[in-house]
Amino acid sequence: MRTMIKTASAVFLLAASWCAAQSLREAADRAGILLGAAVNVRHLTEPAYTSTLAREFNMVEPEDAMKWRDIHPAEKTFDFGPADRIVEFAQNHGMKVRGHTLLWATHNPEWLTQGKYTREQLSVLLHDHINEVVGHYRGRVFAWDVVNEAFEEHGWLRKSIWYDQPGIGAGKHTDYIAQAFRWAHQADPSALLFYNDAEIEQVDRKSNAVYKMAKRFKQRGVPIDGIGMQMHVLHGAPNIASIATNIARFTKLGLQVHITELDVALPVDGEGKASNPSDLQRQAEIYREISRVCLQNPRCTALQTWGFTDKYSWIGWETHRTKGAALLFDSQYQPKPSYDAIKQALMQWPRRQR
Ligand code: G3I
Repeated sequence: MRTMIKTASAVFLLAASWCAAQSLREAADRAGILLGAAVNVRHLTEPAYTSTLAREFNMVEPEDAMKWRDIHPAEKTFDFGPADRIVEFAQNHGMKVRGHTLLWATHNPEWLTQGKYTREQLSVLLHDHINEVVGHYRGRVFAWDVVNEAFEEHGWLRKSIWYDQPGIGAGKHTDYIAQAFRWAHQADPSALLFYNDAEIEQVDRKSNAVYKMAKRFKQRGVPIDGIGMQMHVLHGAPNIASIATNIARFTKLGLQVHITELDVALPVDGEGKASNPSDLQRQAEIYREISRVCLQNPRCTALQTWGFTDKYSWIGWETHRTKGAALLFDSQYQPKPSYDAIKQALMQWPRRQR
């Protein structure tokens, strides 16, 4: 009897250590889901940053390097260098690359926003930009956030140079967005094309507006493949049942869903550490539930965090250092409870085909 107990506990310990030995990346590969992180090229010279990234993730997305201001700094100049370094890093480590983003109201260069271009000129500029950037990464970037954050909170279209100030003159309402998708498709017919937005995870007025657009696009043959739900959790806890319903209605249209910018902000002390250590557990549960809600829908094909170490995150900058500690690794690259929670969710999930 004692031998049996000993053997059973040895097997258990072996299994537990096997589970513990798995990286997130191995767990994600096993579950058949893409697990990504937004990456800043400045940190690719830091060994702890690169080794953690390559070990733990099977997908990357440049946090800023593919945005207009970075990649198209002057009218006739494209600067692909920083984004190329991220893409090369991904290729060297067998990781997929999501591209972000081709059309956004902000992070545009001054030459563009102050240029007083006519609708016709803007239209040519946007077409050429999409053609050049998507063409440059053809076959290397598998999915693009073609358009980012085109809607306001209540479901109205956001004012921007592309839509109405003066707009590219592509017709009414969301037609300018459809036009961007068509141009992206022409530049790389094999890339998956996503509409990406913040606070469209739950069923509400904003996600209803995006849903209506996506449905219309599918009916009219606009080449859209998916919806990116950013999932920045800055306050409180998300309504998981509503997220599940929302993901389901988009995937029923024949679209994929990617969770694209997940982070869960906590109140922090002067050193950027969670002021209340019990918050780390609450954070882990949110990460666990969001992972599960994606895993449970086979058309939710990617889960990505907006950065991966608390050393570098937009949250501190955004909240004047009152919040932070939002990611899976602390600022010393040590895994947090949230890391274990995602890993467990992935390990417990039956493998699916990618
Ligand atoms: O950290 C520096 C700070 O040291 C410096 O004093 C300050 C001066 O402006 O800049 C700070 O860097 C800023 C950085 O955010 C901090 O994270 C950059 O100026 C600013 O341009 C940069 O903004 C980026 C932002 O998009 C605008 O493009 C963030 O890197 C990036 O995380 C954020 O990402 C967006 C997604 O693209 C779309 N969804 C929302 C998401 C979060 O805002």
